[in-house]
Amino acid sequence: MCGIIGYAGHRPAVPVVTEGLRRLEYRGYDSAGVAFMRQDDLRVIRSKGKLAALEEKLADEPVTTATCAIGHTRWATHGVPAERNAHPHCSNDGALAIVHNGIIENYQEIKADLTTKGYIFHSETDTEVLVNLIAERRKSEPDLLHALAGALREAHGAYAVCLIQRDAPGTFYAARMSAPLIFGLGTGENFVASDIPAFLLYTRRVIFLDDGDIVQATSTDYQIMHLADLQPAKHDPQTILWDMQAAQKTGFRHFMLKEIFEQPRVITDALTGRITTGRDTVLLPELKDLPIPKRLHIVACGTSYHSALWGRHLLEHWAHVPVQVEIASEFRYRDALLQTDDMMLVISQSGETADTLAALRIAREHGATVLGLCNMVGSSIAREASAVIYTQAGHEISVASTKAMCSQMLMLALLALYWSGRRNNAAALTKGQRRKWITILETLPALLDTHLPSMHEKARQLSRKYSQARNFFYLGRGHCFPLALEGALKLKELSYIHAEGYAAGEMKHGPIALVDALFPTFALAPDDALFPKVKSNITEVQARQGKIIALTNEGMELAADEIWIIPRVAAPLVGFMILPVLQLFSYEMSDYLGKDVDQPRNLAKSVTVE
Ligand code: AGP
Ligand code: GLU
Repeated sequence: MCGIIGYAGHRPAVPVVTEGLRRLEYRGYDSAGVAFMRQDDLRVIRSKGKLAALEEKLADEPVTTATCAIGHTRWATHGVPAERNAHPHCSNDGALAIVHNGIIENYQEIKADLTTKGYIFHSETDTEVLVNLIAERRKSEPDLLHALAGALREAHGAYAVCLIQRDAPGTFYAARMSAPLIFGLGTGENFVASDIPAFLLYTRRVIFLDDGDIVQATSTDYQIMHLADLQPAKHDPQTILWDMQAAQKTGFRHFMLKEIFEQPRVITDALTGRITTGRDTVLLPELKDLPIPKRLHIVACGTSYHSALWGRHLLEHWAHVPVQVEIASEFRYRDALLQTDDMMLVISQSGETADTLAALRIAREHGATVLGLCNMVGSSIAREASAVIYTQAGHEISVASTKAMCSQMLMLALLALYWSGRRNNAAALTKGQRRKWITILETLPALLDTHLPSMHEKARQLSRKYSQARNFFYLGRGHCFPLALEGALKLKELSYIHAEGYAAGEMKHGPIALVDALFPTFALAPDDALFPKVKSNITEVQARQGKIIALTNEGMELAADEIWIIPRVAAPLVGFMILPVLQLFSYEMSDYLGKDVDQPRNLAKSVTVE
């Protein structure tokens, strides 16, 4: 969840590294720092807070001509957000500086041993222990590559690290294990970073490093080796096709708003090339060699988990596939009794979420087939899954996931239609039914293009009206229950208002005790089979003076404090109209309350640690 970057080249390294950190800040931003050579010494500048605080400090520094540097933007796991815990961390002898994304799980025992050897620690981080372990190993292995390799074999856990040394300026070392790290090949310059945008301004040629890779690089040369034996590791460079423009706000106030308004394009892109000319069959060639699962386990976290819960309705109803959905951090510690003919679907926008990656590995250990549904090409999950489908939503910069969920829902609908088409029997949809649903999917982009502006205006009005609320319920039934969970998550993570997503039918089993005039409820009540039931639940809440914002369709008989009309789309695909409403309401609430919309406190875009 941190962002790391290393550079060796012909340019002044500090501006390259700080610009790279700006493009990594979505990964964590409680503190930041850079390290570079100044004359004969390693210079380390760090600051608590966001990158701007570091840049202020750097402005007071004499201009440096260093052409090699490392940088870090942090999301704390060990040690509070503070300058002393910010990276880079140095070895006691001042000869090494390191930046790290991940967790060294056995750092306490290593720290205890190093302390007996006279090492002192200025921070509470595991990272400072690692850099001093490398220094200690150098006493017997003077070559830094060997000392680094030895230390990383001793350290257990997850890491993406980059290291420079005082005695050999111009060279950086890097390694990865269960944390993302990409190598960028430039002309007369080389890069390593947690994510591609950090150096995309300078090169499109990348190598996706594998777990267990270790790198030594200068401005003109590089070696990638296996950590285990330092033998060459074979990698073919790839060329990145998407551009930086995709990672800019292009006139929107925040990345989140831009990405909400990109959802029509996301749907169009996801449909392109995946529907037969007869408009009645879905093509997913990535899956042609995989069987239709007898039992499907879908595992994910956060918003991706909510997509999974929504997709279950379609996979069961349209494709007749039995589905279990589970939170990854729960699945990984449960004895899941997976059968070899089970299939797991892991859903992850970043493709780097540690809990989801762990679930994937458990499933593969059980011999189950694992299908990945990811947005980031070349991500760990994408590469370790038996097969992967990309959502093609483009780079999602805002920490709060929006267009990614839209694209995940769309791909789950296509997956259900695909397996339904392959089943082609009474247990699944007929060709005509498939054509009906595909036709509806194809109307969604234009519907959203038409209605997003008015949804945005309504969200602006209602967010201000309810901005004093300190608690919210989000209620839904059936295919709307996952959307209720997502609406609550969005409000929590963006505006810091407490919100609970609940199955509407569950309210009477306790939660309704919370309802009063100060505890408003967002009720998802589209025109579907469960509308009458949700209507009763709304009445129950109103009987306790609870205020209701009801999301419904034109002409539905419903009394509420706020009626929010959305375009009528056949359930469950009406979810594509409900989702942006929930996103925009939370967006406007967050912005109105003055929160940091694209980088909410305590969060990070990709949770690559446990
Ligand atoms: C969503 O708004 C959150 N940022 C978070 O719940 C996120 O969905 C979760 O961490 C899973 O991320 P992933 O899809 O990259 O695995
Ligand atoms: N464990 C390191 C620290 O706490 C890195 C944290 C992370 O990668 O999120 O500083």
